[in-house]
Amino acid sequence: LPSLTLWVEDCVDSTNAMALKKLAEPAVALPFAILAESQSAGRGRRGRHWVSPYGQSLYLSYAIRVERAAQLQALSLVVGLAVRRALQSFGVSNVGLKWPNDLLVSGCKIAGILLELSGDPADVCHVVIGIGINANLLDANGIDQAWTSVQRVTGCPVDRNALAAVLLEQLDCVLTEHREHGFAAFHEEWEAGHLWQGCEVRLTSGVHEIDGRVLGVTLDGALRLLVDGVERTYSGGELTLRLR
Ligand code: BTN
Repeated sequence: LPSLTLWVEDCVDSTNAMALKKLAEPAVALPFAILAESQSAGRGRRGRHWVSPYGQSLYLSYAIRVERAAQLQALSLVVGLAVRRALQSFGVSNVGLKWPNDLLVSGCKIAGILLELSGDPADVCHVVIGIGINANLLDANGIDQAWTSVQRVTGCPVDRNALAAVLLEQLDCVLTEHREHGFAAFHEEWEAGHLWQGCEVRLTSGVHEIDGRVLGVTLDGALRLLVDGVERTYSGGELTLRLR
């Protein structure tokens, strides 16, 4: 790996919050990463809490500089692939990607990704990539969605250090490739893992609800939906499956 500063912490409020604070310090070297054993105020997407009991899961933040704002959209999809590859190498082979960046096994969440920006997204900016992986999660008090863990899927506890090492390696690999060649280099792999490819879904974005059929993702990482016979693309929102 090229040089990476890694902080390993015991208890923090949120590794993402800590990374954003570090980014505000003068002359902080990038990239850097923070791992913690637990979080008292772990952040999930859409303002949700990320349950983070001590020593059971992986809580990682990885801070990078992004030169091209146009690459931000696909960044979260590319990070999803790094997590998926890392999980695969620990025997979790059936990981599905839910756009933009949820990772599910048989409908249960195994990992989540939260990107937070620092600086003006129209300009060069810094991004904190937050990743939570349910490694050996047991104590799930407070989790309000169906979940699973590496241990549940494979039947034995995973070495969290080894998982973190592979994840950091994969992140470096996909981020370098993405910076140089864009999302096009990952498009096929992403759609191959895309859980709801071809499915009827509802996209909720603010007060808007859009029903359509998933056609895939664009070369920028936007979602392609067939809505009333017309192809449309969307850059944000939350997907749910429509059962008929
Ligand atoms: C989601 O809601 O799916 C995203 C969850 C992201 C959780 C991770 S854990 C490490 C990092 N620090 C945080 O506070 N959140 C992210």
